[in-house]
Amino acid sequence: MDQKTKMIKRWLVAIVLVIAAATFSACEKYEVKPIPFDANATWHFQADIQPIFNANCISCHNGSKSPDLRDGKSYGALSKGYVNPPAENSRLYVKVSSSTTHIPRTSDTQKLMILNWIKQGALNN
Ligand code: HEC
Repeated sequence: MDQKTKMIKRWLVAIVLVIAAATFSACEKYEVKPIPFDANATWHFQADIQPIFNANCISCHNGSKSPDLRDGKSYGALSKGYVNPPAENSRLYVKVSSSTTHIPRTSDTQKLMILNWIKQGALNN
């Protein structure tokens, strides 16, 4: 290998290292930090809970399967014994949090939102 080729190789290695370092530091800067669940937040049926049903439940619970979780029907359906305290034992929470009796279709955050909404009185807010 002649002197010139060696020089070019060294430069290439140096450039690769600089790019790698820049990439890593950029990753750190834009890393997505998980938002901690705020147990004290007030959860609203229309703004927080119904969108979970719209996205995860109404493919099945669309009137033919109880409870009817479609927008406009869900609160009335759930009031018939699905959201009675204690929240942990309510039929709605037991269903969404169980991994054996019902296919889980909610994230941990969504489960906590539902749980806390029931704890806060399961209001039609
Ligand atoms: C793939 C279809 C399907 C999806 C999606 C689904 N469910 Fe269900 N669900 C069922 C079936 C079937 C039953 C009845 C059998 C059983 O209890 O597991 C049921 C039962 C229930 C029950 C109990 C009904 C009762 O009378 O006790 C609740 C509450 C419930 N689902 C809530 C939900 C919620 C909330 C979601 C969305 C997060 C959801 N389900 C998504 C199929 C589904």
